[in-house]
Amino acid sequence: YTEKQDTNRKYHDIVEDALEYFNERIFSNEGREALEYLSKRQFKPDFIRENNIGFAPRGWNNLSDHLLNKGHDIRDIITVGLAKDGEKGHYDTFRNRVIFPIHSPSGNVIAFGGRTLEDKKEIPKYINSPESPIFHKGRNLYGMKERGSVIRRKAYSILMEGYMDVLSAHSFGFDVAVASLGTAFTDDQAKLLKRYTSNVIIAFDMDNAGRFAAEKTGIVLKAHGFNIRVLELKNAKDPDEFLKKYGKQEFLKHVKGSKEIFDYLYEFYVKEYDLSNLMAKQNFINRFKEFFQNVETDLEKSLYIDKLSKS
Ligand code: UTP
Ligand code: MN
Ligand code: MN
Ligand code: MN
Ligand code: MN
Repeated sequence: YTEKQDTNRKYHDIVEDALEYFNERIFSNEGREALEYLSKRQFKPDFIRENNIGFAPRGWNNLSDHLLNKGHDIRDIITVGLAKDGEKGHYDTFRNRVIFPIHSPSGNVIAFGGRTLEDKKEIPKYINSPESPIFHKGRNLYGMKERGSVIRRKAYSILMEGYMDVLSAHSFGFDVAVASLGTAFTDDQAKLLKRYTSNVIIAFDMDNAGRFAAEKTGIVLKAHGFNIRVLELKNAKDPDEFLKKYGKQEFLKHVKGSKEIFDYLYEFYVKEYDLSNLMAKQNFINRFKEFFQNVETDLEKSLYIDKLSKS
């Protein structure tokens, strides 16, 4: 029993109390709009309950007042990111948002993600708890706590961008999905995933940001010896939208048709060059430098180079 565990105990208590509060609010009168919103996105009440989805009401101090009444200290509430210091005193971080709890791999709730119910440009659609003594974004994967054992049994995982995609995938029976929490994929996240499987399918959004992230994430995963495939969805911007438009069987087809990371990068990079030009061809091959640096065996590398030289 160390001193660090002792000081962190109070932070864990705060986020646990906050989760209980969010979970109660969504099934109260105040939560009606949130339930309606989730119902439009095809999340049923049972599913909401099972996944501990919650609601942070409108207003500036609902949660912080509740936590203060429970005896917590405002500085600690701010430290875990549930309130912020403002000119007129403290205010709640999460307001009028659907709340998704984020767990550590060992099973503690450590942070929250919140999606706004307001469709306004000046309000960020998603916010997450900031880094805190108990939450290090780059060391966690959303859904790992719940999905770890299934991932180990099925021997693969599908990596998505966010909790909406992961939850949607789960509701369609894809119970091996986890998410990287909207930041650059880290070595620590690769190590965490490696504890469960060496096979991963990247299923990021079909926009430029998503494609760029798929490339970077694939390269990080390669350094950790994963077998990597990349899934491309036609006519939908992300897994959530795709599943709702086309359903489970179509998604499964895309999983089966996912491309090995090298082939994916090939198609991704080849568009940038005119290969009839010798210089351009050299540049095209150089484009794989970062990826090649992470390929472990010479045999694998020579297979790839062979493919490239034939292009
Ligand atoms: P997107 O920006 O693709 O969300 O972020 P979206 O698909 O348009 O949102 P919906 O479908 O309208 O709700 C993808 C995911 O990245 C995470 C969230 O988990 C989100 O689901 N994210 C995004 C963050 O964690 N932080 C951010 O600032 C943005
Ligand atoms: Mn978006
Ligand atoms: Mn996106
Ligand atoms: Mn998206
Ligand atoms: Mn989406």
